[in-house]
Amino acid sequence: MTNPGSMSEPENKDFYLTAISQRSKDVPWYYPPLRSLNPSALQILQAYSGIQSEEEAIAHVLRIREKAWQIFPYPCIGSYRFLDFSIHSNPLYPILLSDVSDASSPNSFLDLGCCFAQDIRRLIHDGASPSLIYGAELRPEFVELGEELFLDGDKEYGKIYTEVDVFEPSTLETVRGKDGSEFKYVHMAAFLHLWGLEKQHLVLKNVITHLLSTAPGSTLLGRQAGNKIPGEYSHPTNSDHNMFRHNPATFKKLFEEVGEELGVEWASVDVYEEGWGQGEDGEGRKVVEGHRETYFAGRDDTKLTFVVRRA
Ligand SMILES: C[S@@+](CC[C@H](N)C(=O)[O-])C[C@H]1O[C@@H](n2cnc3c(N)ncnc32)[C@H](O)[C@@H]1O
Repeated sequence: MTNPGSMSEPENKDFYLTAISQRSKDVPWYYPPLRSLNPSALQILQAYSGIQSEEEAIAHVLRIREKAWQIFPYPCIGSYRFLDFSIHSNPLYPILLSDVSDASSPNSFLDLGCCFAQDIRRLIHDGASPSLIYGAELRPEFVELGEELFLDGDKEYGKIYTEVDVFEPSTLETVRGKDGSEFKYVHMAAFLHLWGLEKQHLVLKNVITHLLSTAPGSTLLGRQAGNKIPGEYSHPTNSDHNMFRHNPATFKKLFEEVGEELGVEWASVDVYEEGWGQGEDGEGRKVVEGHRETYFAGRDDTKLTFVVRRA
């Protein structure tokens, strides 16, 4: 478990725990101010949110990041990953989008652990029908900040349920899609990796039992951190201070085991593995001028994208 680029330094645990409770910015996943925005984020902030210039958009993003950091200093906030709109890079995206673009369709989409609900804004911006788009989030403050970030005005962006805890079935039972239905699509980005393996089992069981439609073709999709060497790694911002990082084989095994326990069969379990976009020097992709994303770009760290369809 000596992985120089990941958050797997047990000896730093106490330092990080104090830093997190004090919302200190002296942690490696708090990146310096942005000088430019990725093209997709800039497009949404201009075309959807109506912000005029890149300069204004950057100042706006930095203000929201400061507020979010005080709520909880997740790596996805400190490192601007909320501007990645990761749903767009899922291979299922074109099919998903066309399936939720016709308001008369019975198929609902849920973004579980949606945080600012950036992926929901992306879907709406690309033509999804708000009547089919739903989110669920534990912390209402993040959803409110999402409204501040995206300046929705009177735009409809779907319904977001808050104070939903994936470990509390009673809260999941309140989360329903169109006409009170369960969901054809449940999206989980940077979500399952918030826990160790045992809890990932439990989360998946709860999601499948309480949220995913029983109809054939219902689909779980998303993205999360992985590692070529699968296993339990320490993680300072996770509630149990650990995370299980999968490779495609262990991720598939997780779904097979949960499926067996629940008597659910999968038509397909597709898992795509990629690196963190190391630069030519092998030291991480450049996210901000003069600053490389080495923290998430250890030699063996990966991103896993998945699409899992019910038989
Ligand atoms: C790392 S963020 C990922 C946010 C977003 N999906 C993305 O891709 O950027 C994880 C989100 O899950 C939410 N969350 C954490 N524990 C949860 C739980 N037990 N039930 C529901 N949501 C939870 C957090 O509040 C946070 O917004």
